[in-house]
Amino acid sequence: MNKYIIQGGHPLSGVVTVSGAKNAAVAILPAALLINGTCRIENVPDISDVRLLLEILDSMGAKIRRLSPNTLELCCTNVRDSEASDALVRRIRASYYFIGAQLGRFGHARVALPGGCNFGARPIDQHIKGFEAIGAAVDLKDGFVCAAAPADGLTGGRVNLDVVSVGATMNIMIGAVLANGTTVIENAAKEPHIVDLANFLSAMGAKISGAGTDVIKIRGVRSLHGGSYSIIPDQIEAGTFMAAAAACGGSVLVKNVIPRHLECITAKLREMSVEVTEFDDAVLVRREGRLTKTNIKTLPYPGFPTDMQPQMTTALCLAEGTSIITEGIWGSRYRYTEELSRMGANIHVDGAIAVVEGVKELNGAPVRAHDLRAGAAMVIAGLAAKGVTEVEQVQNIERGYETLVEKFVALGADMY
Ligand code: EPZ
Repeated sequence: MNKYIIQGGHPLSGVVTVSGAKNAAVAILPAALLINGTCRIENVPDISDVRLLLEILDSMGAKIRRLSPNTLELCCTNVRDSEASDALVRRIRASYYFIGAQLGRFGHARVALPGGCNFGARPIDQHIKGFEAIGAAVDLKDGFVCAAAPADGLTGGRVNLDVVSVGATMNIMIGAVLANGTTVIENAAKEPHIVDLANFLSAMGAKISGAGTDVIKIRGVRSLHGGSYSIIPDQIEAGTFMAAAAACGGSVLVKNVIPRHLECITAKLREMSVEVTEFDDAVLVRREGRLTKTNIKTLPYPGFPTDMQPQMTTALCLAEGTSIITEGIWGSRYRYTEELSRMGANIHVDGAIAVVEGVKELNGAPVRAHDLRAGAAMVIAGLAAKGVTEVEQVQNIERGYETLVEKFVALGADMY
């Protein structure tokens, strides 16, 4: 079924366990191409983006064993030096990680460029700048990225990113781990999933230091060996459930989290009069009284994550007072506010700024999930609204959230 039906207006209560981080998994799986041997990866989120990447790896000859929905064994030793299937690659944004992986493994890459997202163009000029810094020649031709290393292979280089880019940081890291010499990435992104990719590669023999800071050093090695790794919990999925508890009211224990990764989200929720209690690997989110307004500006980590902007803006629609949201990463990531307005929200968007006048309640309505996080915001709005909300195009949500309906129903939501 490609829609959810939500009977809203109920507080949420109970326990939810967060899955593995999507934005770590979608880089780690292509990076496995570099490994000569079998790697066992645990806490892999069972989401459609992961299933698609596994289909691409399988089409290239990788040996994949699913030991459980969230644990797999992957061997790319006999992967053919072939291109990933274009039709599959075009369906997922994160397929650009195959550029770095094929370049690092085979010395050349030809990857179809995926389309943009619903919030504007998704350039890759910084990825290309990084590959050129390690000696590759890169061309954009007929919708493909073609990269080739010199005959004597890639050599370590230095690249200073003009923009803090998660994808470029990860892609250059992937391309550089088997290069001759040391690569330095300056102005690197510091997101938790960057550190997770670096830790995965290091567990397989890579020599990477500085991940999580803005200078990452990769000392090239001759090969990577197999091993085991467990992916970190998903910071954004955790934040999504925290924002849902804030919007709906009630008391939700969000388990399998790393509280440090949630600091910005926790701080903002506390400003909104939400009670957040931190434990070693869980946070308890409680909201009884009315939400109060706050302002949010999205920034690279450790700033407030852009991927939490739609979910928090939705909660702020019900807060007392006027909140100002500034989208600092993507040109304008507010298309979903049109859907919220149909539910009675009072939001005025001007470029990167959204002004949210809190209202007493939202009313259920038919809405669309324009993209992954916009879709999560629609679910939160439906759960908090009075009446019935139908969310369409939920395939966009299921790209990045594992068993979302089951997890919300276990918290008392009336949805299917
Ligand atoms: C990753 O996208 C995430 N996707 C996005 O999450 C997330 O919104 C984004 O990072 C920012 O945190 C994945 O990890 C698969 P960027 P990415 O490169 O890597 C500009 C989700 O919901 N830029 O950090 O594509 C770019 O236009 C998704 O899970 C360049 O100018 O984002 C943007 O303004 C949505 N040139 C900024 O940098 C480049 O070569 C940050 O982009 C690359 C990026």
